[in-house]
Amino acid sequence: MITAGASAALQLACLALIEAGDEILMPDPSYPCNRHFVSAAEGVAKLIPTSAAERYQLSADQVAAHWGEQTRGVLLASPSNPTGTSIDPAELRRIHDVVKSKGGITIVDEIYLGLSYEEAFSHSALAISDDIISINSFSKYFNMTGWRLGWMVVPEAMVPVVERMAQNLFICASTIAQHAALACFSPESIAIFEARRAEFKARRDYFLPALKELGFGIDVMPDGAFYAWADCTPLCAKLGVKDSWEFAYALMEKAHLAITPGRDFGTADTARYVRFSTANSMEQLQEAVRRMQKLFQ
Ligand SMILES: Cc1ncc(COP(=O)(O)O)c(C=O)c1O
Repeated sequence: MITAGASAALQLACLALIEAGDEILMPDPSYPCNRHFVSAAEGVAKLIPTSAAERYQLSADQVAAHWGEQTRGVLLASPSNPTGTSIDPAELRRIHDVVKSKGGITIVDEIYLGLSYEEAFSHSALAISDDIISINSFSKYFNMTGWRLGWMVVPEAMVPVVERMAQNLFICASTIAQHAALACFSPESIAIFEARRAEFKARRDYFLPALKELGFGIDVMPDGAFYAWADCTPLCAKLGVKDSWEFAYALMEKAHLAITPGRDFGTADTARYVRFSTANSMEQLQEAVRRMQKLFQ
């Protein structure tokens, strides 16, 4: 189903599947809007603390342990925003088995899948099962964020339900954007997108080691997207701040660098972390590193 961005797909999936009071399990940290799509459908987003050992993704054991009377399913993003880390396909299979055994739903937001840098993580969840709901978009790999176009692959039985809702909420996804998006699939366009993907990887390969060098804690190397989830606690004292919220402000005020404090993405341990975005030119990233070097020396 073609939608107005992944955002509309997430909204439609949540409205179609969640009843008032239903609980959806998701990792902490995760994309902030996801919990809001759940609460807009009168559901309850239950954020479960994750660790670097699990690439900041849920494990099947956690899903089984947190599944309760009200639980309806899981909402994952792979690769994830803010961490840029993907879920291990074997673990996703185990999670989906747990979910199925409970009669629940598995929604996987795969918006960054096109910007994957490791073969092991570059396959859609649909390869595991076609009763997983996969959400994707033209906003990231295809670089068409402002055109507001995405898609969702759903089990056949959901199609008429989502169609009826989409008709009421959106009428349709922009026709002009759909015509424009057809050009994405020409070999010339794919060559451009692949060159951009290589550039994103090159930025990751430069920026992540540079952050480590500056003193940030990087617990796991991102395998996709364009983010760095960095522990700033080793550097807080240098700026005279107590947590990542104050750290982000200090960086903005003292070095004119805009980064995102961890607390936007959850509550567990997020006072330690900040998110950097590498969706910027290599020159700008190098300039950011120079400014931080000066600030921390
Ligand atoms: C994980 C994730 N899902 C969904 C979205 C929304 O994407 P779209 O522009 O397709 O609505 C974003 C945007 O940043 C995102 O990071």
